[in-house]
Amino acid sequence: MTYKIKVMNKIAPEGLKLLEKGFETGDLDNPQAILVRSAKVQTSEYSELLAVARAGVGVNNVSVAEATEKGVCVFNTPGANANAVAELVFSTLGYGVRNIGASVDYVKGLMDEESDEAISKLVEANKSNFKGSELAGKTLCVIGLGKIGVLVSNYGVHHGMKVKAFDPYPSVANVHYLDSRVSIESNLMEAITDAEVVSVHVPLIEQTKNLIGEEEIAQAKTGCVLINFARDGIYNDDAVENGLNSGKVSRFISDFPKKRFISNDRAICLPHLGASTAESEENCAVMACEQMKNYLNLGNIVNSVNFPPLEVPVQRTTKNRNMIAQITQVIGEAGVNIQSFGNESNGTIGYNIIDTDADVPQDVLDSIQALENVVRVRLIAF
Ligand code: 3PG
Repeated sequence: MTYKIKVMNKIAPEGLKLLEKGFETGDLDNPQAILVRSAKVQTSEYSELLAVARAGVGVNNVSVAEATEKGVCVFNTPGANANAVAELVFSTLGYGVRNIGASVDYVKGLMDEESDEAISKLVEANKSNFKGSELAGKTLCVIGLGKIGVLVSNYGVHHGMKVKAFDPYPSVANVHYLDSRVSIESNLMEAITDAEVVSVHVPLIEQTKNLIGEEEIAQAKTGCVLINFARDGIYNDDAVENGLNSGKVSRFISDFPKKRFISNDRAICLPHLGASTAESEENCAVMACEQMKNYLNLGNIVNSVNFPPLEVPVQRTTKNRNMIAQITQVIGEAGVNIQSFGNESNGTIGYNIIDTDADVPQDVLDSIQALENVVRVRLIAF
């Protein structure tokens, strides 16, 4: 079967190359799948849709709840653009705390001076107007310990910063990569207290709207820098503007320009550039296309935001001996609900993990053990 994949944004060719065989890609009608970057996807508009892959992390441009109801699997590409974002956090932070914008503008204004000597004199006379501050020794607060937050925290440590981080639902897999010098705080207020730099790396969901408002900013150090390469709406705009006007906040660095900040000299606004590097666009495209292909061709799910992860190896060396049906029959007849069933075979021996939501009586274990071909049964209770 040839799947039709609608490509809704420019997706790096390294990714699309993976879909050359067995797929039709382009601006297609009635697609079975959609590849997207930041265009809006209303999944209910596509009756044949099986999957949406977002070449990026945030999925607030995709109607995920509606997709789930219709059984449409939505993928994203966590980590693929983490380095691009983390590098930009520190480039713009350096740009801000060393007054690079104003310094460069000042030097450009010296173009009409009559000689290099004259320029040199003016530079030496006026450089103190552009004195900045260093990152080393300062306190960085990172909110959100996904792949990007972890990288930003680690880069902070490498810049000699004291890093405090907070995530309401930290993932063990991500925290595993966190530098041991990062202090994980148990709540947002603790993390932000006395912070000189605050960087948010959480998705925009109901619970993160206006996450950083007046009270939170009040906890940070006077003259703090606030950074937003996550999503518009996570900082409360009024609170940030008040902070900039009172001097509580020395800089607001944001990837989501708004009139009130564009016109404020203390704000540095970029045109949503966090993930815009050649490397990151390639990584995101390859990951999104691989995941899409894996799902359409084999049903495997890796990095879905609304479906559980599940991968089944393709090549089976032997047929199993109808064990799944026999075992589930015994458990089902005992009225025990099976939550999940994993079964693999290496050709010599099969192995199953059966997760139930109630205790499994001993006679049920005995009945399974008594089945022909069952070698051993072990109960793990926790
Ligand atoms: C993301 O969600 O991955 C980033 O915000 C980048 O988004 P973009 O692909 O629209 O630049």
